[in-house]
Amino acid sequence: MPPSSRKRTVQAVLLSSSFVKGSSASADDVLPTKAVSLSSSSIPSHKTNGTELFQAWRAHDSLQFHAFTDPSEIQRIQHQLLTWYHAHRRKLPWRGDPPPWNGSTSNFGNCGNKKQKQTSLKSFFKNPDDMTGNDDTSLPTFPVTPYGVWVSEIMLQQTRVEAVIPYWVKWMQSFSTVQALATATPEQVNAHWAGLGFYRRARMLHAGAQHVVTHYTTKDGTVQWPTTVAAWQQLPGVGRYTASAICSICFQVAVPVVDGNVCRVFSRLRGVAQHVKAPVFKDQYAWTLLQPLVEHTDEPGNINQALMELGATYCAPAGTGLEEGDPLKEFYYSTRLVEPAIVSNDLSPILVSSTMAPTTAASCPLCAEDGVEQVIQQWRECAIIPNLRVYGHQYLPMAPPQSAKRVQVWQVAALSHSAGKEKRWLLVQRPPTGLLAGQWEFPCICLWDSADTKVDKKFKTLKKAVDPEPPTIPLTKKRAAWKKLLIELSVGTVSSVQTVGVSSLEHVFSHVKHILWLQTGQVDDAMDEAASTPDGRAMQWMTAGDMQQVGITSGVKKILQALKQHVEDRST
Ligand code: ADE
Repeated sequence: MPPSSRKRTVQAVLLSSSFVKGSSASADDVLPTKAVSLSSSSIPSHKTNGTELFQAWRAHDSLQFHAFTDPSEIQRIQHQLLTWYHAHRRKLPWRGDPPPWNGSTSNFGNCGNKKQKQTSLKSFFKNPDDMTGNDDTSLPTFPVTPYGVWVSEIMLQQTRVEAVIPYWVKWMQSFSTVQALATATPEQVNAHWAGLGFYRRARMLHAGAQHVVTHYTTKDGTVQWPTTVAAWQQLPGVGRYTASAICSICFQVAVPVVDGNVCRVFSRLRGVAQHVKAPVFKDQYAWTLLQPLVEHTDEPGNINQALMELGATYCAPAGTGLEEGDPLKEFYYSTRLVEPAIVSNDLSPILVSSTMAPTTAASCPLCAEDGVEQVIQQWRECAIIPNLRVYGHQYLPMAPPQSAKRVQVWQVAALSHSAGKEKRWLLVQRPPTGLLAGQWEFPCICLWDSADTKVDKKFKTLKKAVDPEPPTIPLTKKRAAWKKLLIELSVGTVSSVQTVGVSSLEHVFSHVKHILWLQTGQVDDAMDEAASTPDGRAMQWMTAGDMQQVGITSGVKKILQALKQHVEDRST
């Protein structure tokens, strides 16, 4: 196809996927680069019967198969989503709800019918200075503001809603306005983020607040918030997802918000045989294909939140697509396609091998190569199981390719010093860049790293994700490492050295797994308060209260818990 006609075809697909004139698809939509043909015969409608739908799906070779094109269907989906969202949405502090809040999805089947259990905030606010006299029910109701929504969306990236609630509340109590955040110190910001992980988010949010105050403060000293996706994307740490969420929720801008949960819902609604992490899906076509759902409604933000919430509840990976309370159950292609796929179990083989050309068209730019055939194969393999429509739902979207994690074994020194009234622990600050940049940790030394060995390559080539298994580390190597670590820390004599726990602790990050071999000991000599490691990292003796002040990571919390358990075990 010559480039000019290819471009026209693509435009035609994009325009027709939005059923009414004046689509407000934003300028930063990434245009599809592959050729897309428009054959109207392959466009199913929700009225198409199951067999026809299946045939169209198996033969489809264009994005058009996945597009929302029927105005009445779009309206009904919007109506179902909004009705469900207004009745059953989670009650959250950044949505202007009074406490008690509940971010849990575990009892979503009863949303609205049962009194939901509140996420306990008491244990989070241990320091009485943080929230004087507050128990969970005496917390305030926060107004909905662009600042509050922005903070929530950044915290919610890679973190569950119920885990975010106490952090968000504490944050808003300490930095109640964007100006307050802009003038906070990096240490204060860090202390409020400690435990949420992915610390770069906090640094970017802080920089973003400074950017807003610098560029959007009016003459009367108030902030005039940006209201477009493009303007929000100029802020540090704000990408298309966050900008679209803020603009649709706070300013009713008609833009979709695409995350993994939303892609899952869309895959099941429209038979996308792809995995949700595929850039072609989550970064490219999903934005365009979801656009019609947020148009011609007064509540694009609520449509987006409903889709996100549905993806976290009824349409979670283990969802069935059949439950009474699922607002979209009549719209899923997934549950409609599976029966005809199995009934049509003709004698023709299912071709998934790359050496044999499939008999079916398989060039949809969104679906994975052979994706449709692979999904059909999986459905057929479980055809003996009753209620196979559930499997229609569960094998869509496809499972992402899994890869093994890098594994490292660390020897950790939990050194305490008891001179004075309170026990203090020696902590070291991590380097300013890289994993857990700038966070405080127990001193440690690496004993083994799969990246330094041949095993890493071997494990990477395995189809299934099996993490490399570290070898048994000889005692001599551990002793030498311990000695080296103590020299680096210049702590002098260490007594009562003990290994904590029979099995080692594990701490898993997104790309690396740390196996911790924990040793504890007492340091009796006088301390040098301003000490630093040979590579210039700050060292500090900290009481539990000091740790609370600077904020500790979940890894440090895990180690403190293991140390406490160790003391209890020894005393029994
Ligand atoms: N996850 C991230 N942002 C969300 C939102 N605004 N509503 C529901 N779930 C979310």
